[in-house]
Amino acid sequence: MRDWPSDRIALGGDYNPEQWPSHVWAQDVALMHTAGVSFVSLGIFSWSWLEPEPGRFEFGWLDEVLGLLHDGGIAVDLATGTASPPPWFSHKYPDTLPVDVDGRRLWPGSRQAWCPSSQVFTEHAVALAEQMARRYHDHPAVAMWHVSNEYGCHNLPCYCDRCAEAFRTWLLDRYGDLEALNTGWATAFWSQRYTAWEQVLPPRATTTFGNPTQALDYWRFGSDTLLAQFVAERDVLHRLSPGIPVTTNFMTLDHFRMLDYARWAPEQDIVSTDHYVVQVEDPRHDQQAELSFAGDLTRGLAGGRPWALMEHSTSAVNWQPVNPAKPPGQLLRDSLAHVAHGADTLGFFQWRASRAGAEKFHSALVPHAGQDTKVFREISDLGEACARLAEVVGSRVLAEVALLWDYDAAWACGLQGHPSSAIEYGQVPHDLHRALRAAGITVDVVAPGTDLAAYKVVLVPTLYLCSQDTADAVAAAARAGAQVLVTYFSGIVDEVDHVRLGGYPGAFRELLGIRVEEFFPLLPGQTLTLDDGSSGTLWSELMRCEGAQVHASYADGPLQGGPAVTRNPVEAGAAWYVSTRLDQTANRALLEQVLAAADVRRPVAAAEGVEVVQRSDGTRTWTFLINHTDRDAEVSLAGRNLLTGRTVSGRWSLAAGAVAVVREDD
Ligand code: GAL
Repeated sequence: MRDWPSDRIALGGDYNPEQWPSHVWAQDVALMHTAGVSFVSLGIFSWSWLEPEPGRFEFGWLDEVLGLLHDGGIAVDLATGTASPPPWFSHKYPDTLPVDVDGRRLWPGSRQAWCPSSQVFTEHAVALAEQMARRYHDHPAVAMWHVSNEYGCHNLPCYCDRCAEAFRTWLLDRYGDLEALNTGWATAFWSQRYTAWEQVLPPRATTTFGNPTQALDYWRFGSDTLLAQFVAERDVLHRLSPGIPVTTNFMTLDHFRMLDYARWAPEQDIVSTDHYVVQVEDPRHDQQAELSFAGDLTRGLAGGRPWALMEHSTSAVNWQPVNPAKPPGQLLRDSLAHVAHGADTLGFFQWRASRAGAEKFHSALVPHAGQDTKVFREISDLGEACARLAEVVGSRVLAEVALLWDYDAAWACGLQGHPSSAIEYGQVPHDLHRALRAAGITVDVVAPGTDLAAYKVVLVPTLYLCSQDTADAVAAAARAGAQVLVTYFSGIVDEVDHVRLGGYPGAFRELLGIRVEEFFPLLPGQTLTLDDGSSGTLWSELMRCEGAQVHASYADGPLQGGPAVTRNPVEAGAAWYVSTRLDQTANRALLEQVLAAADVRRPVAAAEGVEVVQRSDGTRTWTFLINHTDRDAEVSLAGRNLLTGRTVSGRWSLAAGAVAVVREDD
C-alpha cells in the first residue's frame, strides 16, 4: 500500500476548483505553498462536471488540475465524485430520490439526494468510480482515494418502497425466518404478529409508539446498506488502483449517530473523519472536551492507529442558527488537539471560500477577504507547526483508561417509550470523559469487542443495550485487575431490545453485586442529595446490595437511605456502580478514587484548563499541552518544545491560549 504522505503532519482540505475560473487554479497551488498545505481532497462534489450527460465523461479539467497539483508537490486525496448525483440522474431516475418518514419524496436541488437502497444509484456510482480508477490509478499526484462524502448525513433513513423490500431481505438474512423475526420483534405485543414478509415495513409514521426492535433494526439496516455502497466502490478501486489507500470520511462528532462506525472502520484502509465544533445549549456541554472525545473515539475506531481528520473549520461554519467565528489562536488549538488525540492529517472544509452557493459564508483556508487575513496567517502558522511535528507522525496515543461506546446502544437508548426521554446516550460518556480530561487522563473510547486486557480502568456508561459477550468481557477485565465503573441504564436489554429479567442492570448485576428493583427517574430540575454531599439529577434507582459495599447513599427524596453509588471487590479488581447522573465535581471525586485504586496517574502536572495528551513511538514520548484558558498556566515538564525549538525544564509557564509539544527525551 502506497504511504499517505508521512514526512510531516499532512495539512490541507477540500479543493473545489470547478467553482473557480481556470486561471485561479495556478494561483491556488502557489498559495497552497505559502500556507504550507501538503494535500487536497479533490472532486468530492464534481459528478456533474465529470459526467455532464449519462455516459459522457469530461476529464480534461481534472487532468489539468491534477497536473498543476502534482507539479506543485501537493498530494491528492482523489474523490470518486459520487457524493451527489447530477440533476440528469434524478431527472432520469426520479424514484432514486429518498422518501421521508411521512412518505414524501424529497426533491433534488441540494446534495446527497439518493436512496441508500437504490441499485441504479450504486451502478452509476460504481461506473464513475471505475472511470476514475482507470484514468488516474497511476497518476503520481494521487495518494489516496476518497469515496463519497459523509455517508448518511442527509439521506438516512429513507422510507421508500425499495428500502422496504431491501429491509425484508436484510431481516431474512438476520433472523432466518418470519417466526424468528416475530420472536425478535416481540410481535405478541399489540397484535403485531406477521404472517407474510410483505406485511413487514420500515418504521414509517405510525399512530403512536412503533415497535422498538423494528426501529432499532432499521438503524442497523441503514448503516449496513450504505456500507455496502461504500464497499462496492472501494472494491473497484482496490482492483483497478491497487496499492492506493481508500477511505471515506466519517462523522464521529457527537451530534451524528446515523452509522455504526465500528462496522465501517475495518473496511477502511485509513480511518478518516470530519469534526466541527458546535454551539450546544446544554450547560454541561464543553466544545473543546467534545472535540477531544471525538478524537479519542476516532482513534478507537482506527484500532489505536493514527487517523486522518478530513475536515474541520478554520473559523465559523454556516449551518447553525448563529455561527461564531473562532477567536485568534483557536484554529491552532483545535487542530493540534486533533493531532494530540491521534490525527496525522489535518484537513479543512474548504480551500477557498465559495463566492456563491449554499456554503458561501462558511470559513475556508482562503477567506473572501483573501490572503491578508487572520485566518490565512493562522493557517500559515499551522503549516509551519505541521512541519515541525514531522517526527510525531506514526506514533500512538498513550491511554490506560477505556470507555465503551456503542452505536447500537445509542440507537436503542434513544428509542421511544423509555422511563425518561431526558436520558440521552451521550450524556454520561461525555461527563466521565470530560472529568478525566480535566484531570489530565487520556481515555481510549472503544467499541465493545475491543480487547480490554491492557486497560487499568474500564468505563461502561449508559450501555443500555449490551450483548452477553460484552458483559463477559467487562467482567473478565474486572477479575483480571481492572477497576470497572458502570453507570445507570446499562445492561438493561439484549441485542433485540428485550429486558434482562431478575433485576436491573441484568447484564452487569452479578459483577456489580447489586440488584435494582425499580427506576426512579427525576423530573427536569429535580436534584437529589447524596450523603457525601454530592448531587444527582435525571435518574435514581431503588436498589439493594448483594455483595457490593455502599459508597454513597441517597440523603433525601423517596430513596433516602438507599444506596446510590456502590463498589464490589472482584478478584484482582473491582466493579463500581453509579445510579444517578452525578454533578461534575462528584464525578471528578469519584473518578479520582477509581484512578487511585487502579494506580493510574496523570503523566504531567499542569494547571487546570491545560489539556495534556501523550503520544509515543515506543522510544520517544511527545507531550501535547494545550492551554485552553485565557491565563498563563504552570506546567512541570522537561524536554524540547518542538513548536518553538526551545528546551524547557522545571516549572514553566505556558502562555494563555498557547500550545506546546514537548519531546521528553531531549
Ligand atoms: C461537512 C461536509 C462538507 C461541508 C461542511 C461544512 O459536513 O462534508 O462538504 O458541507 O460540512 O461544514
